[in-house]
Amino acid sequence: MWRRFGFSSPSDTPSKDAPTRGLAASWYRSRELYQLERRSIFSKRWLLLTHTLRFPTSGSYLSFTISGISFFLVRDRDGGINGFHNACRHRAFPVVQAPSGTASILSCKYHGWSYGLKGQLSKAPKFDSVPGFDKTQHGLLPIHVFIDAAGFVWVNLQAGTPDAKWDDDFRGVDAKPKMQEHEFKDEFAFDHFWDMDVDANWKSLIDNYNECYHCPTSHPLIAGVSDLNKYRVEPDRGVLEHHIVNKNQEAKQFRRGITFFYPSTSVTVTENMFYIQRMMPVTATTSRIEYEVYRHKDATDENFDNINAFYRQVLEEDKHLCEAAQKNLDAGIFVNGELHPEKEKGPIHFQNTVKKDVMDHRKKEQEQGGQQIWPAIPKLVGEMKSDKLVEEEAFCSQLEAEGCVANHELAW
Ligand code: FES
Ligand SMILES: [Fe+2]
Repeated sequence: MWRRFGFSSPSDTPSKDAPTRGLAASWYRSRELYQLERRSIFSKRWLLLTHTLRFPTSGSYLSFTISGISFFLVRDRDGGINGFHNACRHRAFPVVQAPSGTASILSCKYHGWSYGLKGQLSKAPKFDSVPGFDKTQHGLLPIHVFIDAAGFVWVNLQAGTPDAKWDDDFRGVDAKPKMQEHEFKDEFAFDHFWDMDVDANWKSLIDNYNECYHCPTSHPLIAGVSDLNKYRVEPDRGVLEHHIVNKNQEAKQFRRGITFFYPSTSVTVTENMFYIQRMMPVTATTSRIEYEVYRHKDATDENFDNINAFYRQVLEEDKHLCEAAQKNLDAGIFVNGELHPEKEKGPIHFQNTVKKDVMDHRKKEQEQGGQQIWPAIPKLVGEMKSDKLVEEEAFCSQLEAEGCVANHELAW
């Protein structure tokens, strides 16, 4: 029986002295595997995105694209934060264009449909005279939003009731001592955003982020402040907690708490700032990292600039490591390597969790005759479920299936 999370499949529970091999290199370059990750992970898991500090007033919004799926979050007039797919219900134009902003109404710049902050369609020019047009059937498609006790904002893109329960993977993370040390809402303010494109598979970024085995050779700044022999990463369900001991424990400036939340976000808390890092796939072999940096109210300019410069350098070094390794993962000679059972505990747990997610999902698809299951696609209800649509979809999928057969024949 596989366990629910991590270290779970038969091949992931090696005998005591068996080596631990990393995930096969093909998993870091395959387009089909990436599509399966979109279905089995990004369309199903709870994703930590941001903090409520970024929604100061009603109408404050933020937009995101994760594994090709675009959506946005917006604060409504009752103070709630709502999430919607960023696609106009008319002809799919993105309703929100900017990465962030404030709006009193969400109006689509294509044909002028507009929506309220709770997603309801409020105006569709000229449709008043269209017989049978029912505005209530054309609200924006919602996504699930959860705000934890420390004010962090999570989403789940699965349509209907999510299979994943936030509590199962993350219960208690918002009440950990590290989270309790700060009243995030009172002590910090959002300062700036920056991002970085990386020519590497998203899993490489996360493998890399969750071990400091590479720090002595690759990060002189970290090696300078931390006792790397004591650096540990401890997995607990969906959480990888980094335990860091600094050489000079009196020097508060570089004290830092790092927590990674499966599948793709980390939060780093220091005396002078905290930052949220989203490490997201763009294609099978390219990724984007987005950083939201929040400044502590007591941080001096000098201390704040120092810690930001520290992290910028470390993150640039990591980009180089991941991109250079990816070239070899792409080339197909390297197949996999042995991981250190203690020093690379973080990547081992992460890789096992990915493997279980994709294999479990694929198993379900195979049980349904090999049909792909896309959990984020809304269930067809009401006017969406027309005979016309069913006929068109069936026609297209048959054509695609025939295309596959034809391609195989050509390949022979
Ligand atoms: S696509 Fe938005 S109004 Fe037409
Ligand atoms: Fe690193």
